[in-house]
Amino acid sequence: MCGIVGYVGDRPAAETLFRGLRRLEYRGYDSAGIAVHEGERISVLKRKGNLDQLEPYLGWFPRRGGTGVAHTRWATHGLPSKENAHPHLDCGEEIAVVHNGIIENFQELREELLSRGHRFRSQTDTEVVVHLVEENYRGDLLEAVRLALRSVHGAYALVFMSVREPGVLVGARRDSPLLLGLGEGENFLASATLAFLEFTRRAVALENDELVRVTKEDWELVTTEGKRLERSPYQVPFDVTSVEKGGFADYMLKEIYEQPQAWQDTLRGRLSRSGVLRIEELEEDHFDLKRIRRIIFVSCGTSYHASLLGRYVMENWMDIPVEVDISSEFFYREPRLDPECLVVAVSQSGETADTMSAVRWAKNCGAPTLSVVNVVGSMMARESDGVLYTHAGPEIGVAATKTFLAQIAAIYLLGLYLGQERGLLEPEFIRHTYERLEALSSRIEEVLQDTEMVERCAEKYCRCEDFLFLGRNINYPLAMEAALKLKEISYIHAEGYPAGEMKHGPIALLHPGFPVVALIPRDGVYGKMRSNVEEVKARQAPIIAVATRGDSEIRECCDETIYVPEVEPHFNPVVIAPAMQLFAYYVAKMRGCNVDQPRNLAKTVTVE
Ligand code: G6P
Repeated sequence: MCGIVGYVGDRPAAETLFRGLRRLEYRGYDSAGIAVHEGERISVLKRKGNLDQLEPYLGWFPRRGGTGVAHTRWATHGLPSKENAHPHLDCGEEIAVVHNGIIENFQELREELLSRGHRFRSQTDTEVVVHLVEENYRGDLLEAVRLALRSVHGAYALVFMSVREPGVLVGARRDSPLLLGLGEGENFLASATLAFLEFTRRAVALENDELVRVTKEDWELVTTEGKRLERSPYQVPFDVTSVEKGGFADYMLKEIYEQPQAWQDTLRGRLSRSGVLRIEELEEDHFDLKRIRRIIFVSCGTSYHASLLGRYVMENWMDIPVEVDISSEFFYREPRLDPECLVVAVSQSGETADTMSAVRWAKNCGAPTLSVVNVVGSMMARESDGVLYTHAGPEIGVAATKTFLAQIAAIYLLGLYLGQERGLLEPEFIRHTYERLEALSSRIEEVLQDTEMVERCAEKYCRCEDFLFLGRNINYPLAMEAALKLKEISYIHAEGYPAGEMKHGPIALLHPGFPVVALIPRDGVYGKMRSNVEEVKARQAPIIAVATRGDSEIRECCDETIYVPEVEPHFNPVVIAPAMQLFAYYVAKMRGCNVDQPRNLAKTVTVE
């Protein structure tokens, strides 16, 4: 995790770097720091805590152009503290570095460096790198970094500067993202394009084992072997207004309200006039979809819940067995993969280390890989054989909301497309389903306009310390997602369970202070859910039903009812999800929590 930024140009360097850090704070926020090259020295400012702790001291730096590097941290090695915050300097205090990733052999390197007389000021894995660069420095920073990285194992995006080379930044990457932002008379290096979006939309993505030397007018890309590379910049497909709060109190709330748009944008323009579903991204040679005999989804967190839902959709519409793995568990069961098994990686960021490893492993086994990703040009998008983008726009709130719904849209789309390509779904069914999917955007809007009951339930139960969410069939993954949302942002213990499984354990926990949220829309398992609701009632636990509007029967037997619009049964998750996100949001706000930056979490998890 962690966010890094480097700047070279004529704007006030510290302020420009700080603005970049603000945009990257979702990547970690336990400590932060800035280093700026001033005359013959490097001035460093570091603070424990989030960026608010750093901001009051920015006036220490002169308000003029220059070169600098900055960092916002999510601790892996070494406690969150001022000493462990980046940037780190070499012994001579002439070189500064910021790092995102993990240096796996840092202990060994540290011992070697100590024996050669280096002094360390932090407990981080990062600090070894700047000492190695110091040892290799002979007047050329790029060359020194290139030589130093030969002994480094692990994942890194690194940005360096040296007092001996004013106006120069050097970046390097392996397995952690690093983007170059190209402005007019100024350039940037950063973990994500968001950091420089307000200054430029022209970007270049570094690939693994590449280094870059950047000045304010120029840039030069080389491999770790020293070979020069040419690469054309691309245009970032959104502008800075899409990453502002736009009048909402929090990013999370804004993003919840952007869901009708995210839904539409992800589905848009896929059905041709002749009624054929087109996903150009999947029409290229590397996919022979007719040959696929098995699908495995791999993902983490909220993306895992979208994948679970994918299993119900795919198995319903197709003749293929579908498995779903949590990325970090994928290897352990050693699934047998071959060219007839399609591995679908679902990830908002396209950077999650565990999912990335799963994709690489699948590729090594010869299985075709497809990623469902929100961040254009991300590592997963580039390394998978094919990519289906969700068009949710940038998501800043750490808890995923609009990207979850966009993933669901993409998964429905993928299900229809595979069904079409394999000749299993009638064109009429495809057209009808696609149109129904498009129409769901208005149903999501309805949920977002009618929040009174959700707020009331939040108010009534926000002091409870445990919640159980129950669902069956396609709503079971939603029960898990609703529980995850609540625990992520309000720190309440919550579990999502298949309703039928409640009697095998969780029922023992129930008591009058332990609310149960039953996802019970009108569908084929309504009767069975009703029985589970009765079982809960008999244990005197309060019940909140999430039910289809017009269902007056359920109101009689539950304490509270949150109504959602009536939709076809297999689309119920689409209207339940926003209601449950809002519930978690209100509860967290009522408990005084910071919903955009929940404790201990980070939006993009680039460590395994
Ligand atoms: C982190 C985030 C979650 C996200 C998960 C997977 O845990 O806090 O919101 O669902 O990573 O991230 P991905 O980018 O792969 O979807």
